[in-house]
Amino acid sequence: MSRKKVTVVGGGFVGSTTAQRIVDLELADVVLTDILDGPPAGKALDMLESGPITRTDSRATGVSTATGDYSATAASDVVVITAGFPRKPGMSRDDLLKANYDVVKAVVEQIVKHSPNCIIIVVTNPLDAMAQAAFKVSGFPKNRVLGMAGVLDSARMSSFVATECKVSVENVHSFVLGGHGDDMVPLPRYSTVAGIPLPDLLPKERIDAIVERTRKGGAEIVNLLKTGSAYYAPSAAAVEMVEAILKDKKKILPCAVYLDGEYGIKGLFVGVPVKLGAGGAEEIIQIKLTAEENAALEKSSASVRELVNVLGL
Ligand code: 2OP
Repeated sequence: MSRKKVTVVGGGFVGSTTAQRIVDLELADVVLTDILDGPPAGKALDMLESGPITRTDSRATGVSTATGDYSATAASDVVVITAGFPRKPGMSRDDLLKANYDVVKAVVEQIVKHSPNCIIIVVTNPLDAMAQAAFKVSGFPKNRVLGMAGVLDSARMSSFVATECKVSVENVHSFVLGGHGDDMVPLPRYSTVAGIPLPDLLPKERIDAIVERTRKGGAEIVNLLKTGSAYYAPSAAAVEMVEAILKDKKKILPCAVYLDGEYGIKGLFVGVPVKLGAGGAEEIIQIKLTAEENAALEKSSASVRELVNVLGL
């Protein structure tokens, strides 16, 4: 059996941490790309040299794509796109949207050329709109383009629940749907501690506080870091998706996928539970929502629709 190959586009903190986790878990050989010349090669070499200690034979290589040459990424099984601009002071949401659309478009055009059978996982923000951009530009079937966010948002919620209940994070299972924005939809009814639904364990005000903190989880980290945004949990989330695909695990995880009428949403990337396996998003799992939950999901998808409309996708 030949080794699996994963390309990680973007050698910033999210990209390089993603590459490191894949190598450490010996999931695949990794090609780390960046438009900078030197840093991706340096980071990859550093990872390679840690292999004898961490006991991994996964090989990392780093290449600059400044010249537009993506040939080193050829025949990747999975491509994780983390490249993009962070939001800078004075930049509007739409400015960021357009700037990152240009990045994602250019990357996807090259990826498709060199890895026509790969599965794309988009991490670049604004997440759901960028996943939609990758889907449109690639021309791939909808099962082969996914956005990472639900796994991250659910992990944040689970960590807060575990802290609140003083239990192992392994006992907690959280479910967050919707777009990766302030109006994402954490679902306490479907979130459990050792199988017990959250509303049976915690008073409403504690649950509300956890929901609110989950929604603002990304901003909480940005405010603490001052320069840049989260990368440990985002990379862990992306790698859980990569692992489910490479190992054909049929694992149900919340991911942004193209909805074609599911949950009453048509023609839009929104986070829902998805079965991940070798085929990528192999099945969208539909769960029954209350009227209130449905309204929250509609509100969240309306925010994504707004961004997608700006881009004319
Ligand atoms: C996060 O949620 C910024 O989307 C990134 O941490």
